[in-house]
Amino acid sequence: MRTQVVIIGAGPSGLLLGQLLSRSGIDNVILERQSAEHVLSRIRAGVLEQGTVDLLRQAGVSERLEHEGQVHHGVEFAIDGKRERLDLHELLDGRCVTVYGQTEVTRDLMAARKASGGITLYHASAVQPHEIAGESPYVTCQIAGESVRIDCDYIAGCDGFHGVSRQAIPAGVLTEYERVYPFGWLGLLSDTPPASEELIYASHARGFALCSMRSATRSRYYLQVDAGDAVENWSDERFWEELKARLPEETAAQLVTGPSLEKSIAPLRSYVVEPMQYGRLFLVGDAAHIVPPTGAKGLNLALGDVRNLHLLLERAYRTGNPSCLERYSELCLKRIWAAVRFSWWMTTALHRFPDTDAFTQRVQDAEWRALLDSRAGRTTIAENYVGLPFPALD
Ligand code: APR
Ligand code: PHB
Repeated sequence: MRTQVVIIGAGPSGLLLGQLLSRSGIDNVILERQSAEHVLSRIRAGVLEQGTVDLLRQAGVSERLEHEGQVHHGVEFAIDGKRERLDLHELLDGRCVTVYGQTEVTRDLMAARKASGGITLYHASAVQPHEIAGESPYVTCQIAGESVRIDCDYIAGCDGFHGVSRQAIPAGVLTEYERVYPFGWLGLLSDTPPASEELIYASHARGFALCSMRSATRSRYYLQVDAGDAVENWSDERFWEELKARLPEETAAQLVTGPSLEKSIAPLRSYVVEPMQYGRLFLVGDAAHIVPPTGAKGLNLALGDVRNLHLLLERAYRTGNPSCLERYSELCLKRIWAAVRFSWWMTTALHRFPDTDAFTQRVQDAEWRALLDSRAGRTTIAENYVGLPFPALD
């Protein structure tokens, strides 16, 4: 089999890249280890930056998002029992965020892939890129017991943090930057009305909590828990009690609780690999970087990489000159580090660390006051939350 671009991974990054390339007339095949149902069963964040919504619109996959996504003009912080709203819309001349689950973005992209007739090979095992430093790369895998080889011009590694693409780059080429946080997030999904119309990021002496939502009748909540904690330790009752203890009294009093539809613990990590390319292999999204979920940057950053790689590949094929592709990593990394900084800061400023002493805590409280009491401070948080602009290609 031969194609122009082999995409490894059918998460949101791989599927959006496939969609954009197909619309530019660039032939591509997607290889995914899991089934489509498994990919759709993963529950991830749900806040889309303005630029992400615009990108999905350009890709022709925004119809349902525009109907069902909730446009949020603000976001709230509850710092030690007091709720304060950032009016994103007012601070940023009308820019805002849209709440629409990553699972739904993935579902829409899968539907578009099916409609365009693009090939996605699910249940692909032993996926392996070859000859990435040369002119004629190819990818091998096993599908239903058969060996498959796909020759191509380029390989896009959209296979997430645990994927094979990053591993295919020779030792010594990549530099890794990492921070592992000493806590995780316990998430709970329930068919209950959200605590508030907008998200509430809460910092409390008992630990961080987040009130988010998927719709007017479905809520998503998170609690900071110790790194070694297990879901089995958290009955629904214990979860709701702890959430109430971390929220301002009036918010806790109005909270509607109900049975959990899903509960899981995710570790928190910041990770970046540089450069994000080697020869004809390009790393995209979680394959190249992870941010903690505080600030909901993961999906937005991933789709920013997709936007850059699509534009560069489109130019390379149109002009017949692939040299622009050398700039992929550099083009992505500035915006990635800005988001890594923001999500590291949000995480640090909102969570309780095991070793935080009384002095550090006072400084943290003072930092929140310094930021929230000044328009410049509120604007800085708002700009980063709503998302920084995509880089210019030239
Ligand atoms: N072969 C084929 N597919 C693979 C392999 C492999 N060796 N390893 C992983 N995959 C697939 C996974 O099964 C998954 O479907 O690659 C896909 C990667 O998808 P994601 O992990 O969702 O990564 P990405 O598409 O970059 O999405 C960006 O944003 O909010 C964040 O972490 C969140 O998933 C989210 C990400
Ligand atoms: C979510 O709704 O799952 C969510 C929202 C905001 C975050 C993280 C997760 O920062």
